[in-house]
Amino acid sequence: MKPAARTALEALKVHESRLAARHLRELFQEDPGRFERFSASLGDLTLDYSKNRITAETFDLLIALAQAAEVEALRHAMFTGEAINLTEKRAVLHTALRAPESASVEVNGVDVMLGVHDVLERVGEFAEGVRSGKITGANGKAFTDVVNIGIGGSDLGPAMAVAALTPFRDGGPRVHFVSNVDGAHIHDTLAELDPERTLFLIASKTFTTLETMTNAASAREWIVERLGEEAVSAHFAALSTNLKKVGEFGIDEERVFGFWDWVGGRYSVWSAIGLPLAISIGFKNFKRFLAGARQMDEHFRTAPLAENLPVIMGLIGIYHRNVCAYPTQAVIPYDQRLSRFAAHLQQLDMESNGKRVTRGGKAVDYQTGPVVWGEPGTNGQHAFFQLIHQGTEVVPVDFLIAAEPNEAMGDHHAKLLANCLAQAQALAFGRTEDEVRAELSSQKMAPAEIDRLSPHKVFPGNRPSNTLIYKRLDPHTLGMLIALYEHRVFVMGAIWDINSFDQWGVELGKALASNLLPVIRDGATTDGLDSSTAGLVERYRALSR
Ligand code: F6P
Repeated sequence: MKPAARTALEALKVHESRLAARHLRELFQEDPGRFERFSASLGDLTLDYSKNRITAETFDLLIALAQAAEVEALRHAMFTGEAINLTEKRAVLHTALRAPESASVEVNGVDVMLGVHDVLERVGEFAEGVRSGKITGANGKAFTDVVNIGIGGSDLGPAMAVAALTPFRDGGPRVHFVSNVDGAHIHDTLAELDPERTLFLIASKTFTTLETMTNAASAREWIVERLGEEAVSAHFAALSTNLKKVGEFGIDEERVFGFWDWVGGRYSVWSAIGLPLAISIGFKNFKRFLAGARQMDEHFRTAPLAENLPVIMGLIGIYHRNVCAYPTQAVIPYDQRLSRFAAHLQQLDMESNGKRVTRGGKAVDYQTGPVVWGEPGTNGQHAFFQLIHQGTEVVPVDFLIAAEPNEAMGDHHAKLLANCLAQAQALAFGRTEDEVRAELSSQKMAPAEIDRLSPHKVFPGNRPSNTLIYKRLDPHTLGMLIALYEHRVFVMGAIWDINSFDQWGVELGKALASNLLPVIRDGATTDGLDSSTAGLVERYRALSR
């Protein structure tokens, strides 16, 4: 961390120790304008961050931290195509994927925008061709089902977005996602499908990922067995940066949608990796999705730090992680269609900021990325909210909610919204022992019983949350939301001085699995393995005999 940032963080810690005795209840009573002070909007999206235990002084100190960490300089470097991914010597330019055609963004002296818009147009043409039935299977039948085979960033972003934007499908084909190398995943998906009407998209930045290549081979076999080898070209397309490997797999050139090494996997839904989404919601809607992200990019790039949504969310994240030492971050959309949002954010945040050394390679002596997790509300209320309200660990929560549902269903949405706001209220303000006692005695409970029950019914409150409220979950809004979190991750990584854009931590497991495969699949010797792994292999052999 930059020395000035370290000093700013120390100042925040001192400040927090003074603030520790204050309760959110008190802070709200003192300042009736707290919501106005601690909320910010962009278009139809509002972030209410007033239910975090911060004051005007905390906020100023946080802004000073962002300045000390030179977040704006790194932001400029990212947007202008500098190779800020130092270990891989790559630019980080997912923002170029949603920039207007008129923009110019250079990597090594070459403007990348022409290529971006060329692929985007091809994605649009192909998506519309599949939707309209102009592009068909080998036997001339229109596709009713599209299967995206990919994992990590080649799965989570599009899978989340396709589910989120179901109301915008408008007769488009069903889109399925197969990611796991567990054969059950592709088996169960294909069991429901008609090969003549199924299109496979093989999505892999590297086109070497074990899971994807294994599933792709099984899908190919499935088509060949049913429709013959000559049907492959009509039933497969590829989304990849590795055109050589795609060619080897046998996918026709005009069915290959490329992207570039400056697009990180977890930031790739805006690239050709978004093709399943474009097929699902149509190209017009896909462009609205990009435009939403672009609006957030412009805001992130130009708004003053103190009004900048991703900066504010990032700074609050740092406050929770490094000043208050909260180990996790929950993301709870009160939006069933965002049921995969937390899964996408898990990769986005934990693969980006789960780092233990600085950009310069020195071990950090402060905490970096939190554990990110979540499920939609109201379901979570009936599962893990008990711990969030009364457990010993404080869990900062991001609530997300639309003002309007996509379909009218009686008073469902009013109930959903009431529950969302109520949870944030309960977390912030809690219920005191006096309130518990008063309530129990109003129910004519015996004093001894009140004594016995009261401690169990007290809610400490003073627990932090953000609420994001937007008009409706549509393509534009979803684009804004994803980009908001991308930039939040960026801000936190910048302050921690880590490289948010590599992922070396996933390599060791991959290498060990490939060493073990001959032992497991081909019966090679267990000699030289540690006793636990060897013991488990022996047990596996005995059980599978
Ligand atoms: O294993 C992690 C990872 O490299 C992710 O970063 C990436 O999104 C995923 O695997 C899939 O990689 P690919 O798109 O190259 O198949």
